[in-house]
Amino acid sequence: MAFENLIVPGASHLQLSPTLAINEAVESVRARGRKVVHLGFGEATFPIQEDVLKVHEEYSRSTSYMPVAGLMSLRQSIAMFNSERLGVRINPEQIIVAPGSKALLFALFDVLRGDVLLPRPSWVSYEPQIRHANKRLFWIETDEEDRHNITKQALEDTYNKALEEGGNPRIMLINSPSNPTGQTYTATTLDIIVEFCKVKHILLISDEIYSDISFDGVSQMQSPLKYVTHDDPSTSVIVTGGLSKTYSAGGWRVGYAIVPRSAAGSKIMQVLLAYASECWSAASSPSQYAAVEAFSTSKHMNHYRNCIRMLHAHCTTRLYECLRDLGLRVAKPSGAFYVYPSFQPYAELLAKAGVRTSSELSTWLITECGIASLPGSAFGEDDEGSEGGRLRLRMATSYLYFKDQEERYRLGYELLDEAAAGKDLQLPMLDEAISALTAAVEKIKSI
Ligand SMILES: Cc1ncc(COP(=O)(O)O)c(C=O)c1O
Repeated sequence: MAFENLIVPGASHLQLSPTLAINEAVESVRARGRKVVHLGFGEATFPIQEDVLKVHEEYSRSTSYMPVAGLMSLRQSIAMFNSERLGVRINPEQIIVAPGSKALLFALFDVLRGDVLLPRPSWVSYEPQIRHANKRLFWIETDEEDRHNITKQALEDTYNKALEEGGNPRIMLINSPSNPTGQTYTATTLDIIVEFCKVKHILLISDEIYSDISFDGVSQMQSPLKYVTHDDPSTSVIVTGGLSKTYSAGGWRVGYAIVPRSAAGSKIMQVLLAYASECWSAASSPSQYAAVEAFSTSKHMNHYRNCIRMLHAHCTTRLYECLRDLGLRVAKPSGAFYVYPSFQPYAELLAKAGVRTSSELSTWLITECGIASLPGSAFGEDDEGSEGGRLRLRMATSYLYFKDQEERYRLGYELLDEAAAGKDLQLPMLDEAISALTAAVEKIKSI
């Protein structure tokens, strides 16, 4: 009795992240001796760039706590990288480093006042983080076809709805290139978003963790940061990013945030530093030293980033072409390593097999066809909502390269170079995924 009701209401909603749950489902199907094509987990798996790896090894004996804001040389490296990428001046003092950008997003939702506007669909962790911070979430409806683009009208509608329902919208979060859609905002859309936030006094958080993985090789230079006048107190943009995606080093846990140069930005930085000092202290020491090298704009790191971009573009576009040719409703991805098809064209047949929601579809595909993917509902899609969002699955291509660590390092560097050189690539696991998806759609057609 004494230990009943021990959990605070905000935390009692928390569940194991669907991304981790899908890994467990994959393991259980594999344990029954069945093969699974794993499109469920968005973990970059390319070999770590060799110089970055070397620095990490060199500093493995460095065990002291780092400064709370992060190693100064790393903050300089991140500031320089983003200044060059975006053509705007960013000072190292605007950067805070943490064990992953996820921790920084959590901290931001926790310390900032107001409710949150979030495009539907959005990455799985924002919603639980927002709810945990006792904030209300108001979904911004996106384009029916690409599930990403947002219009001025959609922004206004969400804002007005929030006010009508007694909400206090003061924060908006965007993510481009997007997890789960693989889509990227155009300059025009970014302009609309920034203007909207300015007029409504909304702080904009721009999650740019996938920014280097822009297939056209130019969109990585896009960010709302380019559309704000720095030092202008009427606009506020916070950018987050990290090591996990471009550098395939999620487990090293290095993320960062860039706060504005304004008085409001300085206050946010001060509070984040205090929060960090009481929560995680600092990011891992060897990882921070390695990250100095990773974010450098040296020729070899620029080359590595280019290889990464080209290889993701090749594999993810091929998976998209397969899904399109199989008759699914799917937008061509322009970044990250995700495709976001809808099985709506097969809704009637699936219903005959008892599959009516994205989560039932995800379960059916893994148990009946050995294909793991995440349901759209994990990203905020409403199975009863707009037709464009129904029966959506997020498929990640990041596990389609190497069977294990040995293969990753034996074959990986050459594969990256071949991708950058535009050579014909052999990706047997992608071929397997395409065969499995083709068989799955045949199975649906025969229901
Ligand atoms: C959209 C998005 N943002 C943030 C993160 C978190 O990255 P990290 O905490 O590793 O920096 C992820 C990781 O999956 C992501 O997909």
